[in-house]
Amino acid sequence: MKIEFPKTFFWGAASSATQAEGREREDGKGENIWDYASKEYNHRFYDGVTTENTSYFYRDYEQDIQKMQDISFNSFRTSISWSRLIPKGTGAVNPKAVEFYNKMIDKLLEKGIEPFINLYHFDMPMELQNQGGFENREVVAAYKEYAKTCFELFGDRVKYWFTFNEPMIPAEAGYLHDRHYPYVVDFKRAASVLHNIIVAHCEAVQIYREMKLPGKIGIIMDVIPVYPRSQNPADLHAAEMADLFYTKSVNDAILKGKYPAKLKEVLIKYDQLPEISATDITLISETSIDLLGINYYRPRRVKAKECLPNPEGVFSPEWFFDEYVMPGRRMNTSRGIEIYPKGIYDIAKKIQTEYGNIDWFVSENGIGIEGEEAFIEEGIVQDQYRIDFLKEHLTYLKKAMEEGSNCLGYHMWTFVDCWSWGNAYKNRYGFYRLELETGEKSVKKSGLWFKELVQQNGFD
Ligand code: BG6
Repeated sequence: MKIEFPKTFFWGAASSATQAEGREREDGKGENIWDYASKEYNHRFYDGVTTENTSYFYRDYEQDIQKMQDISFNSFRTSISWSRLIPKGTGAVNPKAVEFYNKMIDKLLEKGIEPFINLYHFDMPMELQNQGGFENREVVAAYKEYAKTCFELFGDRVKYWFTFNEPMIPAEAGYLHDRHYPYVVDFKRAASVLHNIIVAHCEAVQIYREMKLPGKIGIIMDVIPVYPRSQNPADLHAAEMADLFYTKSVNDAILKGKYPAKLKEVLIKYDQLPEISATDITLISETSIDLLGINYYRPRRVKAKECLPNPEGVFSPEWFFDEYVMPGRRMNTSRGIEIYPKGIYDIAKKIQTEYGNIDWFVSENGIGIEGEEAFIEEGIVQDQYRIDFLKEHLTYLKKAMEEGSNCLGYHMWTFVDCWSWGNAYKNRYGFYRLELETGEKSVKKSGLWFKELVQQNGFD
C-alpha cells in the first residue's frame, strides 16, 4: 500500500540557534543562559560539552543548506538567537547577526527551502535573565521589541513565523524541575513565567498583525498525550490533571483564548495562582494564530496517586498523578521514553475536535539514539530504526489526514546531530551524523530514505 501526502506538503527538519550555530560570542554575539550555564554548571552537561561545540551552522550554513537540498528538504525551521541579534537583549542590533540571518534566509530561498523562523528556543539573553528573565514584565516588553525587530528585518521574505518553541519548557524546566537555568524549584514562579511567556506570545502576534506582513504566525507546542492506566475514576482523574497542567493550560490559552476554569480553581485552592491582570486576560482572548506546530516525542501514561503528596514539599502537578509504566511498552532506552506512533494520530484528532481543526504541522518528531557509531557500516550510519520510526508515525499522520485533519507538513528533529540541553551529544537525532572531533557531517541511511520519501511524496 502506498502512503501518499499532498503535493504541497512541507517536508524538512527543525533545529535551533543555540543547538546548531556555535561560534559562541563570535562577531559580537552576546551571552545567553546556555552559554553561561554550560560553563558555570558544566557538570550538568553530558561530557561537559558547552554551546561552543556545535555543528557550526553560523560558519557552515551554505554547505549545510546544500546538504538540506541534497536530501530534498522543501522547508526548514530554525530560530534566531536573540543574544546574537541584540547582544544585551535590548538596545543595539548586531550588524554581523543581521548579515548572517539575511544570508541564511536568502540561501534557503535560493535553494527552494521555505524558512520557518522561530523567535525563541529556550535561549534567554544573559543580561535579561539577570533582570529576572520572563518573571520580569520588562523582559516581556523587551521580547516584543526583539520580535518587532525580527519582523522588520526579515518579514519581507520569511512567511512562516513562530513566537516560541515549547512555551511550557522554560517555565517547567527552569522554575520547577531543576533542568534549565536558573534551576529554581517553585511552582508559583513557574506559573508566573508561563503566563508571561503567553503574554509575550500574544504581544508578538499582535505586533505582527499590525505590521500587515505577508505571512503567517503561530507557535510551536510540545504535546504529550495522556493515557490513564484504566477507566477507573481515580486513574481517569489522574489523567485529567496531568493533561490540565501540562497541555490544556497552554493550549487553551493560545487556541481558545482562555485558561481552563478548572486550572484556576485548583491553583486558588492551593494558593498557587500567579498575578494575572484583566488586561492580560483580554489580550489572550483577542489573540489567535494562523498555524500551529506540534512537537511529538512520547505519550504520558498515568495512574492514580499511590501516596499523598508531602504537604511540606513544593507544590507540583505531580501531586495529582503518578507516572505509570505500562507492561510491554516499547521504549527508546537511550532517552528513557516510550515510543508510541499512534500518539500523533490522537493529537491530530484532538486538534480537530477540540481546537477548531486549525492548520498545523508536525514541527518536531524524532528518535535520539546513544552510541550511534555502533551502527556505522560501510561509512554510513545504518539507522533503519529511524526509518521505521518515521514510517510508523507518518502512517498514523496520514490516517488522521484522511479523516479530515489539516496537517500541512512534517519536520523531523533534526537535520544534523545537534547539541542539546543537558544531554549535549549523548543522543543523536540527525539525518546527518556529526563527527565531534573533525566537524565532518555525513548523511545517514535515514537521510537518503527521506530524500526518496520527499521525491515520491510518500512511501510504500
Ligand atoms: C525538543 C526540543 O523538545 O526536544 C529540542 O525542542 C530538543 O530543542 C529535543 O533537542 C530533544 O530533546 P533532547 O533533550 O533529547 O535533546
